[in-house]
Amino acid sequence: LRKTDPIYRCLFPDGQYGWMITRYEDAVEALKDLRFVKDYYKLNEDEMAHRTAFDQSMLFSDPPDHKRLRGLVQKSFSVKMIEEMRTRIQEITDELLDEWSGKTSVDLINEFAFPLPIIVICEMLGVPTEDRDKFRIWSTSLIEGPDGDFADEIDQHMDEFFQYLSQRFEIVRRSPGEDLISQLIIAEEEGDKLTEQELYGVVMLLIVAGHETTVNLIGNTILALLEHPEQLQLLIQEPDRIHSAIEESLRYNGPVEFSTSRWVSEDIEFKGKAMKKGELIIIALNSADHDEEKFDNPEQFDITKEKSQHLAFGKGIHLCLGAPLARLEGEIAISSLVQCFPNIKLQMDMDELEWRPGMVVRGVKEIP
Ligand code: HEM
Repeated sequence: LRKTDPIYRCLFPDGQYGWMITRYEDAVEALKDLRFVKDYYKLNEDEMAHRTAFDQSMLFSDPPDHKRLRGLVQKSFSVKMIEEMRTRIQEITDELLDEWSGKTSVDLINEFAFPLPIIVICEMLGVPTEDRDKFRIWSTSLIEGPDGDFADEIDQHMDEFFQYLSQRFEIVRRSPGEDLISQLIIAEEEGDKLTEQELYGVVMLLIVAGHETTVNLIGNTILALLEHPEQLQLLIQEPDRIHSAIEESLRYNGPVEFSTSRWVSEDIEFKGKAMKKGELIIIALNSADHDEEKFDNPEQFDITKEKSQHLAFGKGIHLCLGAPLARLEGEIAISSLVQCFPNIKLQMDMDELEWRPGMVVRGVKEIP
């Protein structure tokens, strides 16, 4: 598609017409173009009754609501605030690695890549880390949708997620702490900053986005290193390359395959294509990050590459809020793993790995 029809009009699996954007330069422009909106229900008011709390989070909002919602949590995710969590993230990583002492085999997704980011986001939000398996089921339901492992239970899982948060919010209202949920509840009680539905939406989004993607950053980086043993050796010998290794992994095997949906807000022309109000826009982030017009040797995984301008975290106003956290978690996880276990080996062939269903996340179910 990048060569033959880079802004491709297509019928998506759910029966909607729209556009798939696959080249880097077009992807950047589309991500920054505010004529492509995120709030489906503002364009389709007759369907408003179906709008959930999750649909009211910043990821599915447009200005000015987007700025207000993002502004409430932005400070907690700044590079400076996240850097202060370095020691704690290293501690959690070391505890997870210590649990393997004496074992000769583990599943790196379930015993490493999943628990690390979910423990971190639970601690930031102030929710018990013992509940992490519930969050995993609920967010898998949300992310994988009707193609996923929980296709028949999505509604039930959403109800459970909602009930859980409702009880949690009651506890926090009675005795607030220093955590993010307490800060958000204070904002909600002040009246004009956050509605109750938006409170649910933002906490659900942080739980889901806070681990679904980082699990796959850790998993996909391990896979890329195992697939390229000379790069793994280089990283073991030169641990300072960890930053560029993570950036290259984000470009080479990005955890978010396609952007979330955008909608054409009015009849427009975008790069010579006539687009109609209401059509769906999907930006193929991983395709853009393999665009040979932008990157030299895009199919090569090379951790010595200097600065990368990949789109793994998106671009424009919806640029990933959690990027500093994801980068730090990825760097600590991978450098600790390869230093402690320089001889890791995959216990199956690469082509036997099972990839997760759904269009958004790119990652495997297990790495034994
Ligand atoms: C948005 C990727 C980790 C929170 C996004 C977007 C991408 C992305 C591509 C924009 C989607 C679009 O424009 O359609 C990733 C990747 C991650 C990661 C690849 C890990 C490697 C995290 C973490 C958190 C987080 C750890 C929070 C704890 C968010 C939020 C948004 C977002 C809140 C919405 C921002 C907005 O709408 O203004 N992420 N993410 N992400 N991400 Fe991440």
